This record gives sequence, structure tokens and C-alpha cells, in this order.
Amino acid sequence: MILITGGTGFLGAHLAAHLLEEGDEVILLARSKQGLSAADRVGRLLDWLGVAANRKKNVHLVEGRLEHPGLGLEPDDSALISREIDEIVHCASSTSFAERRRAEVEAVNLDGLRHVLDLAERSRCRRFHFISTAYVAGINSGHCLEELVRPAAFTNVYEETKCRAEWLASERCAKAGLRLSIYRPSIVYGHSETGRSLLFNALYYPVRTALFLKNLYETDIRERGGWRAAEMGVRLDGDGWTVMPIRIMAEDGGGVNVVPVDFFVRAFGAIRERAVDGGIFQVVNSRRTRIEDIIEYTQALFHIRGIMVCPAQDMEGKPRNALEEVFETYLEAYRPYLRDRRIFGAEKAGPILDDKGIRCPDLTFDIFKRCLDYAVQCGWGTRLFRG
Ligand SMILES: NC(=O)c1ccc[n+]([C@@H]2O[C@H](COP(=O)([O-])OP(=O)(O)OC[C@H]3O[C@@H](n4cnc5c(N)ncnc54)[C@H](OP(=O)(O)O)[C@@H]3O)[C@@H](O)[C@H]2O)c1
Repeated sequence: MILITGGTGFLGAHLAAHLLEEGDEVILLARSKQGLSAADRVGRLLDWLGVAANRKKNVHLVEGRLEHPGLGLEPDDSALISREIDEIVHCASSTSFAERRRAEVEAVNLDGLRHVLDLAERSRCRRFHFISTAYVAGINSGHCLEELVRPAAFTNVYEETKCRAEWLASERCAKAGLRLSIYRPSIVYGHSETGRSLLFNALYYPVRTALFLKNLYETDIRERGGWRAAEMGVRLDGDGWTVMPIRIMAEDGGGVNVVPVDFFVRAFGAIRERAVDGGIFQVVNSRRTRIEDIIEYTQALFHIRGIMVCPAQDMEGKPRNALEEVFETYLEAYRPYLRDRRIFGAEKAGPILDDKGIRCPDLTFDIFKRCLDYAVQCGWGTRLFRG
């Protein structure tokens, strides 16, 4: 049996569906939230994922919270886990970048991990799968290897705690004789074939911001005389497209490393099957998507003109216009990930995936359109489980 933490999250839910599909029995650690019981949340997720009725029988639910010692489990649930689990997939995490939330991020990503490891050590579990991130690399340049790292600085508390968590998991698993696999995805977006997703941050956020500004100023033009739009330099062209003069500062050759969730799940499955002794595996795209391409896709899909990439030296002496200031404020937290020039090596993951014929698709316009159409249709997640 496999214990999955974070099974109500984007990646954890997809991994749970994959393991069920493979015929595994899973125990999901979940919590109640926003007036919904843990059971209701898991139930609607399994429906959303299309898990067949005969597979749902293989799901056991335990209620718990990472920051509580013993995960706050009922004694019977704790006993079930100790008795039955062979593997743990630790996917739960705080993904907040906000420094003001440091205490909470540390409580979930470090104390929470300690509590899961305590449980692993008390059980018959022999394999520990830790879902980390390629961005444990912190602020550095060049080639990022599939090994434990100690960067001098991080972009945010999320990166820092994930990096510290890798060391913690590594030390504790080595002592306890647990085989540890660390998976480091880059930025994960929706399903490349269906466009479906449960989370609409990272790649989606800049696009959502552009669309939000477009709708805001279009409404101003159509209903309120358009003076706010004019102040920002926004106008409607004769063919109905919206012109938004926004320069986005980018590094030459920089871009964003993105992988679709279906690739991540297949990669996880292959690595889990082949690398039985564990290791560190970067689940990344060998090619970055250029910001220019994301801008082109966004403009084509949403009928926008005027957004362009601008090298840093060309911005000097030409201060940002008001619209650029607004856009940059929204994007601040994601900026480092959009202008990345690093190479994330996959010396260990690559051969396993090649051997299995698993290839990360490039983010083409067709895939982008499927994913963004889905995002808009489900109100960026607000209407996911309705109807
Ligand atoms: N998505 C990406 O692009 C990406 C990229 C690289 C790495 N990762 C890694 O992948 C893992 C999953 O991320 P995700 O994108 O799936 O994030 P997510 O959708 O936000 O899921 C986070 C999960 O953690 C659970 N969780 C958070 N705090 C908890 C607590 N105190 N007690 C119990 N459960 C708690 C959440 O439960 P609730 O549903 O109850 O809140 C949720 O199930 C993380 O470890 C993240 O670092 C993600």
C-alpha cells in the first residue's frame, strides 16, 4: 500500500490516479477545507480525474495535517499506516513564496516532512518518494545537477525550505535504511492532450494578468469613455484587437522551463519502476520555452497586440509606462522563473525516460491553446467542480 500526502493537490491527485490505474492500493492523507470534509474533497477529485469505480475501492482516506506531530491522525489510522504501507509519496507542501508566511512554510515543508518521516520509520515502509522542485538550485547560473546542493542564496522561502527538506529527507532516510527518490519537476502545467489542470499559477499567471488588464480596459473603452485606457496607452484597433503597450524585460536566450502534468506523471512512473534504489531525478524540459513564444501565443489567442520583449539594456533610460508598472507588480514573484537561462541536467532521469520512450513535449501553440481554453472555461479554477 502507498501513502500519498498532498493527494488533494495538483500533482498529488494526478499521481494518486496514476498509481490507482497501475493497480496499487493507496492511502490518501487529506484535510477538510473551506467547509468541505476531507472525504467530499477526495470524492470530487477522484470523479474529476475519471478514476473508475473498481479503482476507487482501492482508496483509503485518513484525515491529518502535516504540521501536527503524528500528522494529527486518529490512532486507528496511524495503526493502519504503520501496518500496511510499503511506500510513501510525499507530495504535500506549502508552495507559498511569501517571506511573511515563513513560519507557516517552514512548519509544513520542514516540520511536516519530519512528521511524515517519523511515521515512515515506525512503519514497514521501505521506499520514500519526495516531490521536490528543480528550483532548489536557488540563485545560481549554469548547469544544475541531479545532486544535493547548497546554494548561497534563494529566490524565496519556498525554494529554501524545499532545499533544506531534501537534505533532511536524505539524512533521515539514510539512517533509517529507507530508499529515497527525490523528484525535481520544473514548472508543471496542465495535461498536454486535454488541457485539463487543477492549478493555475506559474505559467498561467502572466497570461491571466494580461487578460485581466485587457478586459479591464476594454470595459473602460466600451462603457466608460475610455479615459483610463487612454492614460495607459491602451486602445482598440479597427479589427477589434486590443493594443496594450507592454515591454517585458528578458534576458537574451532566457525562458521558462515547463513540463505538462501528463509528462510528469509518466516520468514519475518510469523512475519509480526503474530506479528502485532511489536517487535524485530532475523532471524537466530539455528546451526552455522562450518568453517571446508565450507572448506570441497569448496575443494570438486573446487578440492582443503591443506586448513585446525588451532586453534590459534597451529599457535603460526609457522608464516603464504606467501599464508596464502594473503588469510588473503582478508578476513580481514569478519574474525569476520567466527569465531563466539555467540548464537543468537530467543525466539520471534522461536515460530512464529515453529508454521508456517518454519525451517532454514542447509547449506549442496548440497545447497552449488547449490549456488556456480550459483555464478560462473553468474560471481559472473557480468553477472546476461545478457541473
Ligand atoms: N505545480 C508545480 O508546478 C510544481 C513544480 C515543482 C515542484 N512542485 C512540487 O510538487 C508538490 C505538489 O505541488 P502542487 O503543485 O500539487 O501544489 P498544490 O496543488 O498546492 O498541492 C499541495 C498539497 O499539499 C497539501 N498540504 C499543504 N499544506 C498541508 C498541511 N499543512 N497538511 C496537510 N496537507 C497539506 C495540500 O492540501 P490542501 O488541498 O488541503 O490544501 C495539497 O494537497 C510540492 O511538493 C511542490 O513543491 C510543484
